[in-house]
Amino acid sequence: MLMSRALANPDLISLAAGFVDQETLPADETRQALQSLFADPAAARAALQYGTTPGYPPLRQRLLDQALEGHPASCSRRAPTIDQVVLTAGSNQLLHLVLESIADAGDIILCAAPTYLVVLGTIANLGVRSVGVATDDQGMIPESLEATLTHLAATEELARVRAIYLVTYFDNPRGITMPLKRLAQVVEIAHRWSRGTKIYVIADEAYRDLRYRGDDVPSALTLDEDGDTVVVAGTFSKSYSPGVRVGWGILPAAIVGPVCSQKGNIDFGSPNFCQHLMHRVLDQGLFTAHVERMCAGYREKLHAMLQAMEEELAGFPGADWRSPDGGLYVWLGLPASIDSGPAGTLFDKAIEEGVLYVPGQYCYPSEGEPTKSNALRLSFGVQSAERIREGIAALARALQAQ
Ligand SMILES: Cc1ncc(COP(=O)(O)O)c(C=O)c1O
Repeated sequence: MLMSRALANPDLISLAAGFVDQETLPADETRQALQSLFADPAAARAALQYGTTPGYPPLRQRLLDQALEGHPASCSRRAPTIDQVVLTAGSNQLLHLVLESIADAGDIILCAAPTYLVVLGTIANLGVRSVGVATDDQGMIPESLEATLTHLAATEELARVRAIYLVTYFDNPRGITMPLKRLAQVVEIAHRWSRGTKIYVIADEAYRDLRYRGDDVPSALTLDEDGDTVVVAGTFSKSYSPGVRVGWGILPAAIVGPVCSQKGNIDFGSPNFCQHLMHRVLDQGLFTAHVERMCAGYREKLHAMLQAMEEELAGFPGADWRSPDGGLYVWLGLPASIDSGPAGTLFDKAIEEGVLYVPGQYCYPSEGEPTKSNALRLSFGVQSAERIREGIAALARALQAQ
């Protein structure tokens, strides 16, 4: 629906899509990596052949080393092995495969409310229930998670809870990074409430490399003492190129078999060529330099968005937002009297003024924590700084008219 509104009006400034900036896509880096690959005909032929279902081993090993790098003391007692790393066509495929492997129709996935809207669609398509857990400025609230589990135990639905899904770095849609202490509490809760049925923690790390200030924090993987609870989902879509579409999962051993069996039946391996390409990109040091350049661009765009919001929206009663440390999104909260959804008046007015946003209500799970209709998601990824400023000014005009 959002996409068709955007296409119908090419002048519309879309602050909706969470796409990456076309101008920063790594054309030179990819050419260099391909040249080096094709300079070695045997390596090129290997890349042009089918691969294996879990994917190209050198890339899997590299991703595993990176995931555990720098945190040996806190690493799980049972550190994952390369057999637990599976490469997919983007992380959406990994999320789909994992959810399909662990949940049956009628089962429950607990999600931060709000959360990544596409995963909510994936959950619904599987006939699985998404149940929202309250969040604050640090992400999912452990006490609310505990209360939700207590409630589900009282209604004899605990055995249906299969996983807790979180976007752990600069989340989509709110831009929040969960502090490690809180993440550890969530992992502990999942562990403790796995009574009979295992409750996994799916840590979606899609935006981990898009950090504009502060230091990286360890992955949820390093908190998984027994190595049987945390699923990490990663992707090169945001940090390198969504067109190359290489994602990955680092999985507890128990679900590697089911995930690979599903994958074997679907495609017996994601594009081998793309995996070889990404390995070259990493191996030749092209990735790190690219990420630095790309983040510099996004940092400026984020600054432009926040500055424009300060200038245009600060006087608007009840409007509130926070500055994310990375990612692609700013979440704008509005007074309860304003409905930002497609049925409200703001959405159409904003389009009339020339700007498109994602209504916050799309990001809420279907049950649990009530849906809020007075918030919206703005993305600074695609538009230039100037268009971002114009978009925010258009949004301010639409808000003034409410
Ligand atoms: C939180 C989150 N996870 C996963 C993805 C999926 O990305 P891909 O399937 O391209 O790896 C996205 C894309 O927007 C996202 O925002």
